[in-house]
Amino acid sequence: MDVGTANIHVAVKDGGIVVREPALVAYASGKEAAVAFGTEARQMLEQGVANVRVVQPLRSGCIADFGAAVTLLRHYLQKALGRRMLLGPLVLTAHPTQATPVARRALAQVLRAAGAGRVIAVQKSLAAAIGAGLAIDAPDTQMVIDIGAGVTDAAAISMGMITEGVTIPIGGQRFDEALLRGIKRQQDIRLTPAAAEEIKLHVGALDRSLAQQPPAGATNTGSFTYKADDVKAFGVQLDDVPAMLYNQALLLADELAWTVEELPAKVRAQVATTGAAVTGGGAQLRGLPELLSARTGVPCAMAVDPMACTMLGLQAVLNNLHALSLDGRRMTLANR
Ligand SMILES: Nc1ncnc2c1ncn2[C@@H]1O[C@H](COP(=O)(O)OP(=O)(O)OP(=O)(O)O)[C@@H](O)[C@H]1O
Ligand SMILES: [Mg+2]
Repeated sequence: MDVGTANIHVAVKDGGIVVREPALVAYASGKEAAVAFGTEARQMLEQGVANVRVVQPLRSGCIADFGAAVTLLRHYLQKALGRRMLLGPLVLTAHPTQATPVARRALAQVLRAAGAGRVIAVQKSLAAAIGAGLAIDAPDTQMVIDIGAGVTDAAAISMGMITEGVTIPIGGQRFDEALLRGIKRQQDIRLTPAAAEEIKLHVGALDRSLAQQPPAGATNTGSFTYKADDVKAFGVQLDDVPAMLYNQALLLADELAWTVEELPAKVRAQVATTGAAVTGGGAQLRGLPELLSARTGVPCAMAVDPMACTMLGLQAVLNNLHALSLDGRRMTLANR
């Protein structure tokens, strides 16, 4: 189970990914019981349904609302496993690379409260790297940069181990906030975070020349359908949006460049050749991998199906648990 700030993925052993949903729970105002989850909760949020409170249980990649997180994960575990839930399933999950021990414990406690038996949590960068198809046990250092909604998790990986890892508190939601503020300042239009995200996905690029419109009705994310009419209805001038996104991207690129500079010279030279796989939803922002390449000196390329990489990596680990040596923080997969 990949429990992300914006999206939850669940895969079952030998069964593929069975859940890809927004990490949202909707409650009726003043009531304890949830009324909707995932896509349905997102629709309620977008439509501003009266008397409904929509909660995102994670912030910056970590559990922020314990109760809502338990409710959400129980719902999707049950959906994925049905009666097999009674057996107290083993759940493999991932935590941000630099998550504190308190945050890591909270994730395991939430999963157990949601019905999991044993919980194994690996570092997110390792899972994302495997999901992106990197041979993580190769001796030459490779990098993975996972740009999620809440955080960017980046790591240099060699021989199944993270040699340098950072969790930067800049993810897709920071880009949405940058738009929200920029548009308020320029045009005095106050957008909701959901509307700001919609505009980001609509423009979809750091550069005006890259900002072509996707075909009408195209799906931008696994869970979210693009609707041009809504963007028009806001009456927002979109011309300056790429520049606003670019400024936020620069902040992220400079943090990553700092991480790369901290690597030993020999390793830095290696990653300048081996490159970095960019995963997470943010990888799909057109022009971002190129900007990261230019600023870090590490050639960055978007992975295939970037939003599913963490889940695909966890699935590969789950299917190889027997062959896997989880020696401290080292992961070696014998039969991948
Ligand atoms: N085409 C796109 N262009 C730009 N951003 C995108 C695109 N598609 C998705 N995103 C952004 O990616 C983010 C979701 O990515 P992802 O599902 O990887 O995050 P997450 O795993 O839930 O979060 P985290 O790993 O930080 O906890 C959202 O902020 C979304 O707006
Ligand atoms: Mg993620």
